[in-house]
Amino acid sequence: MSPLKNGWHSRRRLLKTGPFFLGSFALAACRQRFASSIQANERPALAQNLPPTPACGDDPTPSQTAGPFYTPNSPERTSLLEPGGAGTPIILTGQVLSTRCTPIAGALVDVWHTNAKGEYDNRGYTFRGHQFTDAEGRYQLETIAPGLYPGRTRHIHVRVQSAHQPALTTQLYFPNEPLNEGDFLYRPDLLMSVDNSGVSAASSEENRPQAQFNFVLMGDS
Ligand SMILES: [Fe+2]
Repeated sequence: MSPLKNGWHSRRRLLKTGPFFLGSFALAACRQRFASSIQANERPALAQNLPPTPACGDDPTPSQTAGPFYTPNSPERTSLLEPGGAGTPIILTGQVLSTRCTPIAGALVDVWHTNAKGEYDNRGYTFRGHQFTDAEGRYQLETIAPGLYPGRTRHIHVRVQSAHQPALTTQLYFPNEPLNEGDFLYRPDLLMSVDNSGVSAASSEENRPQAQFNFVLMGDS
């Protein structure tokens, strides 16, 4: 068994036997600090030590509508943070994998979501950006927890595309959100794992909430 597959099996054993703790990883340098000016009742519910999202070897990640606010040709970048912008900074990481657990290098991961007020930027590229996975299929994005807009729970839109698999368009959800269950698109297998165990009142780039989601693309390669 390859080390990678063995790792996934170990992860599954953890799922069966106890809480899963996100591994630590180096954080990208943050150039700005962000005022958390959103009201307390608008803050995302960031749960601790949740089980991870479905691993490779399971079904491919479900697709969901792109909605009406997708803008093509977003800039390539790994941080969507805006100078002086409001919102709760988070770091979203994960891998792009095939259903055979093969990391997919060079996959495009295109993300878009609202600002802290629940507004999309449909004229520019605020909170829009894409990046390419590394040799191990990994991506890492600095951004904020999106706000809420009428009729939807908190969510992040993602489009993942590789050279050999069909493109995946989907949405990611936050755990423990009051509006999840009533949302017409929400589904539990698109929940991110969110670890805020290191978060303190004095938020810094070292202790911001860490969200994790692995995308599993249809196809074997
Ligand atoms: Fe949306």
